[in-house]
Amino acid sequence: MLRSTCNGPKATMEGTLMDAPSKEFALAGSLEELKIKGRLVVHGGHRPILVIYDRGRVFALDNRCPHMGFPLERGSVEDGILTCHWHHARFDLESGCTFDLWADDVPICPVEVRNGDVWVKTNFTHADLAAHWRQRLANGLAHNLDLVIAKAMHGQLAAGVPQAEIVRQVALFGAQNRDGWGVGLTILTALANILPVLPEEEAYLALFHGARRVAADCDGEAPRRERAPLGSRPDPAALKRWLRRWTNVRHREAAERTLLTAIAAGFAPAELADALFAAETERAFADTGHSLDFINKAFECLDLIGWQHAAALLPTVIGQMVAARGAEESTAWRQPVDLVALCKESTSELADLFAAGRGSRDWSGHAALAQELLGDDPARIVDALKEAIRAGTAPADLGQSLAYAAALRVARFGNANEHADWETAHHVFTYANAVHQMLTRMGTASTDTHVTAVRGVLHGTMALYLARYLNVPPARIPGDGGEQLDDLPVDPETIGAALLNAFDRQRQVDLAARLVARHLTLGHSLQALIATLAHAVLREDAGFHAYQMLEAGVRQFGAWGDTDEGRHILIAVARYLAAHSPTERASLQTADIARRLMRGGELHQEAGSS
Ligand code: FES
Repeated sequence: MLRSTCNGPKATMEGTLMDAPSKEFALAGSLEELKIKGRLVVHGGHRPILVIYDRGRVFALDNRCPHMGFPLERGSVEDGILTCHWHHARFDLESGCTFDLWADDVPICPVEVRNGDVWVKTNFTHADLAAHWRQRLANGLAHNLDLVIAKAMHGQLAAGVPQAEIVRQVALFGAQNRDGWGVGLTILTALANILPVLPEEEAYLALFHGARRVAADCDGEAPRRERAPLGSRPDPAALKRWLRRWTNVRHREAAERTLLTAIAAGFAPAELADALFAAETERAFADTGHSLDFINKAFECLDLIGWQHAAALLPTVIGQMVAARGAEESTAWRQPVDLVALCKESTSELADLFAAGRGSRDWSGHAALAQELLGDDPARIVDALKEAIRAGTAPADLGQSLAYAAALRVARFGNANEHADWETAHHVFTYANAVHQMLTRMGTASTDTHVTAVRGVLHGTMALYLARYLNVPPARIPGDGGEQLDDLPVDPETIGAALLNAFDRQRQVDLAARLVARHLTLGHSLQALIATLAHAVLREDAGFHAYQMLEAGVRQFGAWGDTDEGRHILIAVARYLAAHSPTERASLQTADIARRLMRGGELHQEAGSS
């Protein structure tokens, strides 16, 4: 008997059984027995196989429903359609293909009838596993099917597909299937950035979350329409000027074509960053910082998947950049102090200040400057920045100070604030992190670059200033002043378990902070602590900001290392996460079901026993 397949291995021709390695086949029973019972289940070291007799033909399928693993032997067969009764998914009995996409296809396997006995091939493998799971991931992304995405992610990793290749596939899908960069691509990139510090199981979850959020972002969206670069090759200064102009007048088409021209002309990533940063900071703290964060993430995504994809990916940030609402339209930035005017006045002095400071590069006052940035007088904050520039501080160093100061806002966030206020503190921190990353990328090429670059720092300091009351009164930061926290566990495993336990309950913000401080003051593994924090996010149905907070925290911790400042940053991350945990963890359940189905074990043995 020969059967065709939509998702399984090639069927075996009747009569070739004896040529095949016998270990690949298992005896299901006699054909007569199958005819009488209608169905048999073959157990063994392989996944359970359901053999069905229907209208003169024999079929063999994975007995575990591809949706949640319930036994298909309990289902009904009618008119060539197998129905699973748990959630009523329907499958074509011959091919295993589903009529209900959310349930996924059932793997099928070749079956042989020889000398009155029914044999099934127990190996469900594919000739090219990587290609098979790549196609399945494409299907899952296209139809926004979390379960299919999870299985495909697991399948690709098991087939040895490099993580960067999976990120590339998802990122390009996201860039092509919605009209602009979105939350999903930001989450994908943030999680891909921390893959190197994650254990294998967490990498699977990280890629799954990134992909599912990209798929959700694209679901129902119109695909992106390509634009072309200009036919000419203007010089870099002209392209930078044009990009700023088109952003000011909100001319998206013109801005996209200008950027594409810069890419086609072979601009280096640092030059592209300079041009986009200058255009973006034409408006202050646009879209509460999200617009700049998205731009930074697009650059980081290209670092991960390769700059040959710049023309496909980078223009996706333009739509939001030109449409973003700047803080200059916000009352809080205008009254009682006109912070926008203060930033503009300061910008006009920057070129001279940078010229004065040129040559002195041994500045190490990051932490001290951060404390000044946390002040409550905006003019003095700006003066502190100017003084640092005069002392020769590079823009990236200013960005690092700003990011640390913003982390302190979160670390000292008072518990008496409204819950929604966490997001205000969060926005400043992720914006400051994006400023720091972009300024690092841009380097120290020219004074003109410095002047436009520092506009981002100025805007960040004003956003930080406006959030000052979130630290009134300030939460105490555990571990400061040599505090040992001796009431807490000692060994790292117990501390880690206690930390996860704290995230299991609502409002354990201070306990989470103390446990992080305890881990660090005892000198335990930094990587283990970061992995625990990552696990705390990846097991949740985390919100967009939680992913941002985790990644920005890990980035900033990387800049400071195992210092007091590094401890403050990880405490900020832990406090934010504790304030937003736990959730329902529905995605974790999907990922877990997919993992167990992929590993071949039985998921619901009791339900299957009759
Ligand atoms: S439809 Fe079969 S387990 Fe849900």
